[in-house]
Amino acid sequence: MREHPATLIKLKRDGHELSGDQIRDIVDGVVDGSLGDAQLGAFLMAVCCRGMSVQETGTLTTAMRDSGDVLDLDAIPGTKVDKHSTGGVGDKVSLFLAPLVAAAGVPVPMISGRGLGHTGGTIDKLHSIPGFRTDLSQDEFLEVLAECGFVMAGATGSIAPADKRMYATRDISGTVESVPLITASILSKKLAEGIDGLVLDVKCGRAAFMQSRENAEALTESLVSTGRAAGKNITALLTDMDTPLGYAVGNALEVAEIADCLHGRGPKDLVDLTLALAAEMLVLAGKASSTDEAMPILRQLVEDGSALACCRKNVERQGGDSAFLDDASALGQAPVVAPFTPSLGAVKWIEDIDPMEVGLAAMDLGAGRRAATDEIDPLVGVVLHKKVGDTLEGDEPLFTVHARDDTAAERAVERVAKAITFSQSEIGPRELILARYA
Ligand code: URA
Repeated sequence: MREHPATLIKLKRDGHELSGDQIRDIVDGVVDGSLGDAQLGAFLMAVCCRGMSVQETGTLTTAMRDSGDVLDLDAIPGTKVDKHSTGGVGDKVSLFLAPLVAAAGVPVPMISGRGLGHTGGTIDKLHSIPGFRTDLSQDEFLEVLAECGFVMAGATGSIAPADKRMYATRDISGTVESVPLITASILSKKLAEGIDGLVLDVKCGRAAFMQSRENAEALTESLVSTGRAAGKNITALLTDMDTPLGYAVGNALEVAEIADCLHGRGPKDLVDLTLALAAEMLVLAGKASSTDEAMPILRQLVEDGSALACCRKNVERQGGDSAFLDDASALGQAPVVAPFTPSLGAVKWIEDIDPMEVGLAAMDLGAGRRAATDEIDPLVGVVLHKKVGDTLEGDEPLFTVHARDDTAAERAVERVAKAITFSQSEIGPRELILARYA
């Protein structure tokens, strides 16, 4: 390091802008260990409190990207486009979107993460498909992408290693909620995929990283401007995470819901959001001149089975058993399946479903991790049978809990039942897409 770490930490602590060299020195120190844990924690807290300029955020992002390998996808013809979501409850969009966009002729190289806390991770969902491998070498990654049009894998240690140490330190030092740190963390990994374009789904609401509209907008603007400054085509949608997406929350249960989507019978909110994001990807790749033009192309690819065929090819190529695409029972079933029917008396409208409570109930069942080392149970979770605005009458079940044992099921039923409220009068539809940055 050209200067003592404490000098750089004090500069940031006192609200000064760091130069490109100073930021690159910090990132080098993160990777080679010359920046100690206490110094890294102090630096992250200084950034969290003082923020970073657009210039600093851009330099931090590219320095973190360059801390490891950047994939070279030049051998794959076409404009390579990926999607990233900031995460939420029931957000299984990637598993439907990747084969759909690939079926439209746009290569999708997708490197995804594991879930932590109440939000699920694409890698955990994929692991609920028997045999499916996400630990691909770089060569395999490229082969699967070339053969199937899309690939879904976990990050290897060589992708943005600076982020691994920084994220682990943020997690234990109260420095996760920082717009520049989140921006650099997300984009360093996505830019290392060697993509040409990226569509961002920034979530806003109770189960999102950014709960307020104001903070979600600030994060979206930072992601879009930083990504564009790094030379990528970026579009973003700001979307609702104030209610679970789709009906299923839990890994195999969500994968089963994706099979429904690929057969053209998925839940409306999940299908609408996936199509909206996919349409943006087709526009970025030059396959459609507008999202309006992209929509019928995408609908046709679902209707004629092309997206389903593309998914089947990929699952089999990545070692998975594709039987679940025809019969969800191939994924297995949790030992206890407990439907819950409230006694309401009269017909009621569903007023609210708190996504955080549903996500935490699923996590407690074993569908998610409280700590990074926790094991996932692929079969447990919650399946809602109603959405906000639906009516519930008679002895209709409201949701079903899938659990390892009766005690866990009872706890989850109690928690999810409390997360759902009713109204005597009709409830209007929720807005799913809150803003578009194109
Ligand atoms: N996802 C990431 O990869 N990093 C963050 O900081 C937040 C969400």
